[in-house]
Amino acid sequence: MTKLQSTGSYVPEMDETERASRDEIMALQTRRLAWSLKHAYDNVAHYRQAFDKAGVHPSDFRELADLAKFPFTVKTDLRDNYPFNMFAVPREQLVRVHASSGTTGKPIVVGYTKNDIATWSGVMARSIRAAGGRRGMIIHNAYGYGLFTGGLGVHYGAEELGCTVVPISGGMTERQVQLINDFRPDIITVTPSYMLAILDEFKRQGLDPRQSSLKIGIFGAEPWTNAMRAEIEDAFAMDATDIYGLSEVIGPGVAQECLETKDGLHIWEDHFYPEIVDPDTGRVLPDGEMGELVFTSLTKEAFPVIRYRTRDLTRLLPGTARPGMRRMEKVTGRSDDMIILRGVNLFPSQIEEILLTTEWCGGHFMLELTREGRMDELTIYAESRPEHWDETALGEHAERISIHIKNTIGVTAKVKAVPPDTLERSAGKAKRIKDKRPMG
Ligand code: DLL
Repeated sequence: MTKLQSTGSYVPEMDETERASRDEIMALQTRRLAWSLKHAYDNVAHYRQAFDKAGVHPSDFRELADLAKFPFTVKTDLRDNYPFNMFAVPREQLVRVHASSGTTGKPIVVGYTKNDIATWSGVMARSIRAAGGRRGMIIHNAYGYGLFTGGLGVHYGAEELGCTVVPISGGMTERQVQLINDFRPDIITVTPSYMLAILDEFKRQGLDPRQSSLKIGIFGAEPWTNAMRAEIEDAFAMDATDIYGLSEVIGPGVAQECLETKDGLHIWEDHFYPEIVDPDTGRVLPDGEMGELVFTSLTKEAFPVIRYRTRDLTRLLPGTARPGMRRMEKVTGRSDDMIILRGVNLFPSQIEEILLTTEWCGGHFMLELTREGRMDELTIYAESRPEHWDETALGEHAERISIHIKNTIGVTAKVKAVPPDTLERSAGKAKRIKDKRPMG
């Protein structure tokens, strides 16, 4: 039982929009989309050219289905307009920029007007509230501060809601645990993989994480499974919910799982319009079908995005706890992170799910891709929990996992069980894949 469950019933608090009907939300979206398309066309050279080339004009938009006529925006469009050419307002009106780290080439720069920051704080405050956060609570914010949107995005939302923020950022794990003990926060916001590192540190210091003050975890910025949720909830006796977002769309707070249902993430559809498309053909798919998530911003001033292809794979489901706003299923992975091994598609999250079915592996793992001749090989490094560390049994553990993977996913992978504390920890997003295959 989690701490919130043991203190009685949980009563959701919602704003007017969260209680709105589907029809009301759709009417709002139609009005706002018309504005956003025109705003992008009138003020951003890229959108004007792209719309003209596709032979569409903002005035062609009359109902939601018309959005499909407009061209997609992809990451390279943003990169080609580095640093400031995608902005729809004069640079002087920006109060802040953020940027993605960008593994290759130039980063992607995003910008916000004062109103955009207010919008972002609003959706983030709503997200924290949907996760069970309330005015007056203390929030330990371990998302990175800086160009990454995680730290400041959560920070402004928490202040908006009326929480006390501890802006610790990522890293210095020992100190994270010390401050959790001393300040007694109710909420922690952090990547799920770094939460595992904090859990290890609790144990290393001989502290029982279930006795910690943490009641609520808001985890995101990377894929994580329900198996990982169970792991963290059990270890801390906390309620763990999923938060989704990306810099291009606004940052964290695009979608959030509600505490009362924990059944996927409600998309804040009053500000972000989602579509699911076939990643190969770009055809719009009906709700319920798996595909690539695409977003159009409805209210953003500085950095409007029209049909932005996120490369994240998921599906849309009808709203539950917030009936007017659709849910997205937990993101299984990014199309960029999909491994194709001898014809079989595979995501790191599937491996996470399998590893967490074992007693001995606590969720720290890494995948290495190599090439032997013409064949790609996958090696899974799975780290043992300290309390299950038994050198003699490792071969057996590895063998069992390898068979499990063969039977469920259908690929042959080498599994190496490694001692506790061997794999590199990241203070933010975990890097799950090491690709050692020769280029080209
Ligand atoms: O990761 C924003 C964020 C910060 C979200 C804190 C949640 C919490 P970017 O660095 O631009 O922004 O990375 C965005 O991260 O396209 C997904 O691939 C992945 N991602 C974000 N949230 C989730 C999630 C932030 N809940 C990219 N589940 C996105 C799975 C996620 N993947």
